[in-house]
Amino acid sequence: MFRKKVELDTTSLKIPEHVAIIMDGNGRWAKQRHLPRQAGHRAGVENLRRIIDACIEFNIRILTIYAFSTENWQRPQTEVRGLMRIFARVLNQEVYELHEQGVCIYHLGDLHGVETHLQEKVRDAMELTKNNTRLILNVAFNYGGRAEILHAVRQMMADNVHPEDVTEKLFSHYLFTADLRDPDLLIRTSGESRISNFLIWQAAYSELYFSPVYWPDFGREELYEALQDYSHRDRRFGKLSAEEDEVEEEEEVASD
Ligand code: FPP
Repeated sequence: MFRKKVELDTTSLKIPEHVAIIMDGNGRWAKQRHLPRQAGHRAGVENLRRIIDACIEFNIRILTIYAFSTENWQRPQTEVRGLMRIFARVLNQEVYELHEQGVCIYHLGDLHGVETHLQEKVRDAMELTKNNTRLILNVAFNYGGRAEILHAVRQMMADNVHPEDVTEKLFSHYLFTADLRDPDLLIRTSGESRISNFLIWQAAYSELYFSPVYWPDFGREELYEALQDYSHRDRRFGKLSAEEDEVEEEEEVASD
C-alpha cells in the first residue's frame, strides 16, 4: 500500500553499522488478508526493496537478511517451489538496479543442493556487484547457524589448523561472514522472540529488537523506530558502562 514518505530526522540517532533482519510473518500477513502464502512472500520482497532503500538513506553500511533457512526445505513442496521462483525473479529483475544503487550482494550459506540455474544467478550477482561499497547486502540463503559452524570446523581441519592456533578471530574468519563486522542490531518481525539458528556466533553481542509487525508491513518508519530504540541501548560487551567505570574508579580512589 502507498504510504506518504515522512521526514525522519536521524541526526540524533546512533546508527548501527550492521543490521541483521529475520523477515518473519509473510504467511500470517497473507492469511489476515485471505490471500495465499505466496502473496505474502511477494509482499515481503516488495518490502525488502523499501528496507534496502531505507538502509541507504539512514547510512547503514551492512544489511544481512535471512531469506531461506536450511530448515525451510521442510515446508510444503509448493511453497518451496514458489519461494525459489521468487528468488529467481528477484535475481533476474532487481540485481541491475541494486548494482546501480551501489549495493554489493553477498551470499551466506551453502549453494549445494540449490538448483544449478539459481546457483549461477547468485554467483553472477556477487561478481557484478563485488566492488560496490554503498551497502553490503548479505543474503542468508540455504543458511543455518549451526551448519555454518560445522562448515568452519571442517574447513579448519582440512587446513590442518593447530588447536593452539584456534582463536575467536581465526574461527570468525572461517565463517561465511569471514571478517565482516558482527551485527550491531538484530531485528525479528512478527512478534516471535527467537533467533532461529540465525548468525548464532556473530550475534553474541548484538542488540536484539523484536517487533510485532509482520514483515511486509515493517517499512522505513518501523526501521526508524528500531534505530531510535537502539540509540538508547547501553552496549557494554560484558564490561561496565563508561559512567559506571568512572564512579567505580572514584569510589576506589576515595577508599584508598
Ligand atoms: C518468513 O515468513 C519468511 C520466509 C521464510 C521467506 C522470506 C523471504 C522473503 C521475504 C523473500 C525475499 C528474499 C529475497 C532475497 C528475494 P513466514 O512464511 O515464516 O511467515 P509466517 O511465520 O507468518 O508463516
